[in-house]
Order: sequence, then C-alpha cells, then structure tokens
Amino acid sequence: MNAAIVERSVEVRLAPGPCPIIQSHRLTLRPHRIGDADAIAASLADFKVARMLSRVPQPYHRDDAIDWLVRQTSGLMPDWSLAVTTGDDVHIGVVGMELRRDGWHLGYWLNRYYWDHGYMTEATGAVLERFFRRMPDAVVHSGAFADNLASLNVQRKLGFRIVDAGEVFSTARNRMAPHIETMLEAGDLVRPQAC
Ligand SMILES: CC(C)(COP(=O)(O)OP(=O)(O)OC[C@H]1O[C@@H](n2cnc3c(N)ncnc32)[C@H](O)[C@@H]1OP(=O)(O)O)[C@@H](O)C(=O)NCCC(=O)NCCS
Repeated sequence: MNAAIVERSVEVRLAPGPCPIIQSHRLTLRPHRIGDADAIAASLADFKVARMLSRVPQPYHRDDAIDWLVRQTSGLMPDWSLAVTTGDDVHIGVVGMELRRDGWHLGYWLNRYYWDHGYMTEATGAVLERFFRRMPDAVVHSGAFADNLASLNVQRKLGFRIVDAGEVFSTARNRMAPHIETMLEAGDLVRPQAC
C-alpha cells in the first residue's frame, strides 16, 4: 500500500460524514441554508445571546449571517452546522460540531424567546449521540464563559466534565472573560429522557 492510500484511509476515519438531518422529540435539526440568514440575524442581534459567544460581533447584521452561512454551506469543511428548528421549520438556534486544530468542538445558541424549555439539552444530546455513532473514539471539547450557568448546566446534564479554566476573548463584550473548558467522550454521554 503506498503512502497516498494510507493518508486517504486515515482522513476517512477522522470525518463524521455529511451533516445529517436529526429528529428529536420536539425538534428537527437540519443542515443550514442561505435562507436562514434573517432568522440568524434576528437571534444574534440580541446582546444577551451574543455576549455568551466568543466570535459574534455586535451589532450583528444580515450580512454577517450570510458570510457565516456561505462558509457553512460550502461543503468544504468536515464540520456539522445544524439549524435547530421547531414547528413549521422555524429556525430557533444552532448546534455546531467544528473541527479545530486540537479536535472537535461543540458550540450552540438559541434565540432568547426559546430559552428554559429544555430545547438545547434535547438538541445537543441528539447531535452528540449521532456524532459519536459515526466517531466513537472522538473526544468532544466545549466550554462556556464562567457567568453562563445555563450553558454549563446543559453540558453537565449531558455528561461533560470540567477540565480547565482560563480567559477567552468575547467579541460582543470586547474584552477577555473567565471561561470554563469541558470535555466529553462517547461513554460518558447522558441522553436526556424525552429526546
Ligand atoms: C445556553 C442556552 C443554549 C441554553 O438553552 P436552553 O434551551 O435554555 O437550555 P436547557 O433548558 O436545555 O437547560 C438549561 C439549564 O440551565 C438552567 N438555567 C437556566 N438559566 C440559569 C441560570 N441563570 N442559572 C442557573 N441555571 C440556569 C435551567 O434551569 C436548565 O437546567 P435544568 O434542566 O436542570 O432545570 C441558551 O441560554 C443560550 O442560547 N444562551 C446564549 C448563547 C449561549 O450561551 N450559547 C452557549 C455558549 S457556551
């Protein structure tokens, strides 16, 4: 077997395949489309959402959403970028699995109107279960700003463990902020009951 073939087979094992459509108890998670730009712009123009994310500018405009969507829908990256939808395909948030230099990272947000109904625990639980089915040996990294108790609770419920703490720059806050780092392996995933 020559070197090119060895390299290709390793690449295949390291990618989870195309972004899937996932049905959970109350939600449909599907790949993004350019047409999601208005909903994303409306959700991320809310400072209470953006301040908990590291890379979302304020103010946030439709063009920012288009730029992000063009990258996510290009098909050039192994990442999953799932639209969280409810009812009649209403876009209420995002769950992303992003491959960075140090491995896979889970990120997510929800339009503020939909907070505190268990939606994100349901959505991330469903995505992680599908991801680990395709990538059983992967380690998933996540985390949250230290003042983001809701997000840390989501991760605690899913089985993530805290592995480090430091500071991360928040574009929306325009400053460094204390940040907790977490990690999850397939065997530790806890799926919430009603998903
Ligand atoms: C974080 C976020 C996605 C949570 O979504 P959600 O659907 O409301 O989360 P869930 O309802 O599934 O779970 C939230 C948990 O935190 C708890 N919680 C909510 N607000 C809280 C607060 N201020 N302090 C402590 N706990 C809180 C809820 O009670 C729930 O726990 P429980 O099920 O044990 O009662 C949503 O708040 C959000 O989009 N925030 C802004 C963006 C963001 O923070 N993204 C994540 C970046 S790491």
